Amino acid sequence: MELRIQNRPIEEADADVLVLPAFEKDAPREAGVLKQADQLTAGWVEEVYASGEFTGKFGEIALLHRPAGFAARRLALAGCGKPGKFDAAQMRKIAGTVVRNLKGRSVRSIALVADVAYAAEAFEGALLGEFEPDRYKTDETEKKSVEVFSLVGAVDEAALARGRVIGESQNFTRELANEPGNRLPPFVLAERARAMAAGAGLECEVLDQDRMRQLGMGALLGVAQGSAEPPCMIVVRYRPEKPAAEGVHLGLIGKGVTFDTGGISIKPSERMEEMRADMAGGAAVLAAMRALAVLKPSIAVTALVPAVENMPGGRAQRPGDIVKSLSGKTIEVLNTDAEGRLILADALTYATQLGCTHLVDVATLTGAIAVALGNVNAGAFSNHDALLERVLGAGRAAGEKIWPMPLDEEYREQLKSVFADIQNIGTRYGGAITAAMFLKEFVGETPWAHLDIAGTDWVAEAKPFLAKGPSGVAVRTLIHLALAW
Ligand code: BES
Ligand code: MN
Ligand code: ZN
Repeated sequence: MELRIQNRPIEEADADVLVLPAFEKDAPREAGVLKQADQLTAGWVEEVYASGEFTGKFGEIALLHRPAGFAARRLALAGCGKPGKFDAAQMRKIAGTVVRNLKGRSVRSIALVADVAYAAEAFEGALLGEFEPDRYKTDETEKKSVEVFSLVGAVDEAALARGRVIGESQNFTRELANEPGNRLPPFVLAERARAMAAGAGLECEVLDQDRMRQLGMGALLGVAQGSAEPPCMIVVRYRPEKPAAEGVHLGLIGKGVTFDTGGISIKPSERMEEMRADMAGGAAVLAAMRALAVLKPSIAVTALVPAVENMPGGRAQRPGDIVKSLSGKTIEVLNTDAEGRLILADALTYATQLGCTHLVDVATLTGAIAVALGNVNAGAFSNHDALLERVLGAGRAAGEKIWPMPLDEEYREQLKSVFADIQNIGTRYGGAITAAMFLKEFVGETPWAHLDIAGTDWVAEAKPFLAKGPSGVAVRTLIHLALAW
């Protein structure tokens, strides 16, 4: 989708549909674009409110064909809710809603009148609304898409560039996370990362199985051994030209399980297909790097994605197996479905070995986080208050909901193993927390935060502003985190 700025009067805006924001009980009587539109259309705006067909409730759309006095072929009102409540997050959603609603009506170009303060979010939202997980549909007539999305007004070119790279990067995650297991085994994820890095001017290194064996990544290799698809560790580097925050080296670690069957502790088949998105965390850190290459934060950032497939089979890891992690700690694998923490353990240790001073991992780690927080908030865990505050602040700035979760030492009890240094599962209680406690064991003293996105990475029912499928959550938070350092 092409993004444009049309800095001209609304009557001259060029599009199939010109969209005006309209609030609840908003009066075209007041000054502004609605009044102007009302006058040009001989009272259509007043009438559509008076009729009750349109109330301004968030997400409502009313359409007028061939509006008198406008260059645009249609005029639309987009309900923006209560005026006092409108913010950047609402802007993103209404732009997405407009795109999704109108593309269903064969509209090819949209021009939206928007508050210039929220221009970047409007472009982001439009791109997010445009995305459809329809890559494997062959009937082109079924595919709906908007070709041009414009903002009307004195919008900054920088806001457009920023909105574009953030929106496109989040869609890059959604595209990757939606790839079926057969289309995206670990080596293909690595190829996609390589292509992204080459395009963005970033350095990309991929460690193969032999290299990981030499290094001693026994926890990761144990998960991978049941699959015919070899694992790999994807490393993407961004280095600032002039580092401002001296010495800061942020490590972004993303879970990259390209398909999670559970292994020998196999999952029920119902909705197992959603486990193709078990690399959503990995895709999120890669997407963040894609954006950072353009937005250029002043700190060094390294992304690490341990990529494996978790399968049962004759060579698969068994419950009760004991593996030796890169950290040297031994792990009793009591449940092969708790595989994310095993691969992340080695990736986190490796990140500290590479010199990362701060670590943030993103993972579809536990069903338990969805029990705790539903599909609204991602859970955040940390061993460092200041870093946690940064992450929560980045989430707020990016319009992604993240809620802090506890990590008291008492939870560590559950991971005590009789036969090894630690076991990979606790009890049914506090499952998201014991998973995070497990990860904490492998970061040493390094400030670290963990985002469990298992409840938020997948949109189960299409929303007015977002298609069904992977949400691309955490990408925007990671971008804001690095930029705000
Ligand atoms: N990938 C899953 C977690 C998950 C569940 C993600 C639902 C998205 C939606 C993870 O590997 C897993 O299987 N976790 C287990 C841990 C348990 C065995 C301790 C879980 O949550 O059941
Ligand atoms: Mn699992
Ligand atoms: Zn998993």
